[in-house]
Amino acid sequence: MQADIPVVTIDGPSGTGKGTLCSRISRWLDWNLLDSGALYRILALLAQQQQVPVADAAGVAALARDLNVRFMAADDEPVKVILDGKDVGSRIRQEDCGNAASSLAEHGIVRAAILGWQRSFQQPPGLVADGRDMGTVVFPGAGLKVFLTANPQVRAKRRYKQLNVKGINVKFADLVGSIAERDKRDKQRIHSPLKPADGAVVVDTSDSGIDDVFTQVAAIIEKRFDLSAIRS
Ligand code: C5P
Repeated sequence: MQADIPVVTIDGPSGTGKGTLCSRISRWLDWNLLDSGALYRILALLAQQQQVPVADAAGVAALARDLNVRFMAADDEPVKVILDGKDVGSRIRQEDCGNAASSLAEHGIVRAAILGWQRSFQQPPGLVADGRDMGTVVFPGAGLKVFLTANPQVRAKRRYKQLNVKGINVKFADLVGSIAERDKRDKQRIHSPLKPADGAVVVDTSDSGIDDVFTQVAAIIEKRFDLSAIRS
């Protein structure tokens, strides 16, 4: 990790507002953005397309080594996700990709295959990294580590709204079940389990809107970093 390029990591389970917060922070600072969940979701999509079972750790890791992915900043979404020249952003946001992503993310060999690629996002003037293990494993030396939490009902409602806005139909009860299952798998896995990094600032977003959360985290960033020196 290059000590001179600042990193803010924002980890936590789905529905805590991570994606929106990371997008806002990266635009405010004009820093790069890494959406690591998108990488696992892309692998899930590729595995489905190429009929590689998610349980086949070596097979999925081989897909990870050949990835041809770009992220493009977009106004309406955190990023556009371009796989082999095609925008797959909407497709990978569907619940089947999220669930398959969480299954293949259990394999240490898969995580190792994309570690260097994730770290390559640390480019000037800085990086905002969104995920589950950004602060614990991928960027352990980050200047600021944030961990977002929220109660499961609130998170399920947010996800439901997000999916509806995107025209993705899902039953609320099914969503509650799939979020609970994904949380359990993410927290209990052997490799890089979901947990706050040492020294992380934990922010509970259950009763706060995105504007409040942004204001709170932006104030911490302003205190932690010398933005006059590093803002582009
Ligand atoms: O954040 P998102 O919901 O897009 O992530 C999908 C899945 O990818 C998560 O449930 C998790 O299992 C996995 N993931 C991970 N490590 C990350 C980001 C995502 O294991 N850094």
